[in-house]
Amino acid sequence: MRVGVIHGPNLRLLGRREPEIYGPDSLDDINRLLQGRADELGIELEIFQSNHEGELLDHIEDASARVAGFVINPGAFTHTSIALRDALVGVERPFVEVHLSNTAGRERFRRHSYLSPVAAGVVYGFGVQSYLLGLQGLVARLRA
Ligand code: DQA
Repeated sequence: MRVGVIHGPNLRLLGRREPEIYGPDSLDDINRLLQGRADELGIELEIFQSNHEGELLDHIEDASARVAGFVINPGAFTHTSIALRDALVGVERPFVEVHLSNTAGRERFRRHSYLSPVAAGVVYGFGVQSYLLGLQGLVARLRA
């Protein structure tokens, strides 16, 4: 089984971006932890990051031919992008939405997600663990 991991805009700044909110781990650190969990679960990962909405849409379309589902941290596009929601629904692959921070406890504009209503599940507020829990949940669902 192969799962797509997608990191949206500004997430390659992790490690130096607002560490009091997003924690000390860099994107490479997070990807290493994800790879470790994927090895334990006996699955393959295809990891992608982009700051560009259109690139994310193209990637979702292309990768959907190769992966059984997605774990996605859509970054700020969570709160703005109907196009991202439409792409994820359109490719008919289950996805888990993850966030490092507790978006429900931050600014009002972060409380709304265009993706959550169509996600298989949502994990937020656990730092890097949100990704690992999201991956585990997705794989359990795909295997069910
Ligand atoms: C984030 C939360 C978003 O509101 C924000 O725009 C991000 C990161 C998170 O992982 O906590 O870029 O998705």
